[in-house]
Amino acid sequence: MAKPRPWTVLPHGAIEKLSNRLWTVSGSLPDIPLQRRMTVVRREDGRLWIHSAIALDEEAMGELEAWGEPAELVVPNAFHRLDANAFVARYPKLRVYCPRVAAPRVSDVVRVHGAIEDMPTDAVLEPRSVEGISSREAVFAVHDERGCALIFNDLFFNHQHVAGLQGWIVRMLGSSGGPRVTRVARLVMVDDRALVAKSLVELANTPRLYALIPGHGDVVTRDASRVLATTALRV
Ligand SMILES: [Fe+2]
Repeated sequence: MAKPRPWTVLPHGAIEKLSNRLWTVSGSLPDIPLQRRMTVVRREDGRLWIHSAIALDEEAMGELEAWGEPAELVVPNAFHRLDANAFVARYPKLRVYCPRVAAPRVSDVVRVHGAIEDMPTDAVLEPRSVEGISSREAVFAVHDERGCALIFNDLFFNHQHVAGLQGWIVRMLGSSGGPRVTRVARLVMVDDRALVAKSLVELANTPRLYALIPGHGDVVTRDASRVLATTALRV
């Protein structure tokens, strides 16, 4: 196993409380001028399901802990494992899930309990598979009082442009500038563009869709279906 990374708080925003079931927060990455996003779902039984963990400051962690007991952690792909071990050290009962293809690299930092398809489902949380991507990362549908929100990882970005030289590089790589499947994702994740586009169109047709939560960048809450359908045209 790799040397465990201690609980390391990098600058992050306030928790965005999208519904009674769904909270999300965006925070910095070390060395890269991109934001990353953690999303937390309060399951039917009141326990918390965490997607793409970010170590937050104690005030924000206190808010989460008052909301529910952290019970499950999804490491959505092998690149999103940075704070996984710190979360398991803090919450030893946490059950960890990741795509089967990511398990060897995720297991290098944390014990994996199962693949995404092994994860229990309930009326709140529904994994939706996307065809045509090598990372096999899932999209998660959250059903709450507002309707349905979709949680993405690296397949869907909505990152604003960033200032400075590094920001220019990110822009040139096609990773910033609004909703998109990035050029990097198309190069390293997308095996079959037509299948990915088909999956995104199906997701765009989700009834009562009110939010798209990207792996990196801002939550889309306006015209979520149209934004996702438009994104599907440019995979
Ligand atoms: Fe990522």
